Amino acid sequence: MTTVLVTGGSGRLGRPLMEMLVEAGFEVRATSRTARPAAGGVRWVVADLSTGRGVAEAVAGTDAIVHLAAAPYKGGYTLKVELGGTSALLAAAREAGVGHLVYVSIVGVDRVPWGYFRTKVRAERLVEEGDVPWTILRATQFHGFVVEALSATARLGVVIADPGIPVQPVDAGDLARHLVALLRRGPGGRIEEFGGPEVRTMAELAETWLRAGGLRRRVLRLRVPGRLGRAFRAGHLTTKAQPTGEITWEDHLRRT
Ligand SMILES: NC(=O)c1ccc[n+]([C@@H]2O[C@H](COP(=O)([O-])OP(=O)(O)OC[C@H]3O[C@@H](n4cnc5c(N)ncnc54)[C@H](OP(=O)(O)O)[C@@H]3O)[C@@H](O)[C@H]2O)c1
Repeated sequence: MTTVLVTGGSGRLGRPLMEMLVEAGFEVRATSRTARPAAGGVRWVVADLSTGRGVAEAVAGTDAIVHLAAAPYKGGYTLKVELGGTSALLAAAREAGVGHLVYVSIVGVDRVPWGYFRTKVRAERLVEEGDVPWTILRATQFHGFVVEALSATARLGVVIADPGIPVQPVDAGDLARHLVALLRRGPGGRIEEFGGPEVRTMAELAETWLRAGGLRRRVLRLRVPGRLGRAFRAGHLTTKAQPTGEITWEDHLRRT
């Protein structure tokens, strides 16, 4: 049986991915910084990518890795996890003879001038230049992440959204299904992309989200300034890649 290690298994994407991997007949191991009892066919291993603690033990005996662990917008800690941690994971994977490492990144990381995106590009390079057969999958924003971002601005009393920014939110379950297919296919040795079924604007997402939740808030249409705003408005967060996910934003709002 093929053993797959999922880093960041407790996250938004990790949870549906592990369920689907178990269902598809893979032996599933996952890392977390917190000790967790085995559950739902998943064996948890404690590992911390910011220090490398537990990484070699987690990787030993696995055939493939889906690397999801991330710590965005935390300064030096982000660099430790996403660069130091990815290097430690690659070294352990090489040592263990892992046949496929899938790294999940973000659509637009190479085109949007944003600090965190630059870190993701550097992590992608480590994977590309490492000795472990690889696939990089850049995904668009997850529905759950968009809801969290909108909720955060709603706490200010208004929802702030740039009406000129096209986004293509994707269902984490659709993305997880695609990742299972990539594992079955094997290493692509290239950067691929996956997005949701529709391109919408942030302001549209905000309005439908407010209506669905019966929330009385105004959408404040503000343009993101400077080069960053221009890159967002140029559509760099979207992709023409096929296939796409199937679950739409409205489907997601109906289900939650
Ligand atoms: N969210 C989005 O909209 C989106 C869009 C495109 C691509 N992506 C990419 O998809 C991947 C998964 O995203 P997500 O939203 O599912 O992530 P998430 O929910 O933020 O989860 C991040 C995971 O990273 C783990 N983690 C954090 N610090 C760690 C450390 N020091 N050592 C080991 N593990 C650590 C956490 O596990 P524990 O707390 O259990 O240790 C957690 O499970 C990321 O690479 C992200 O960049 C995300």
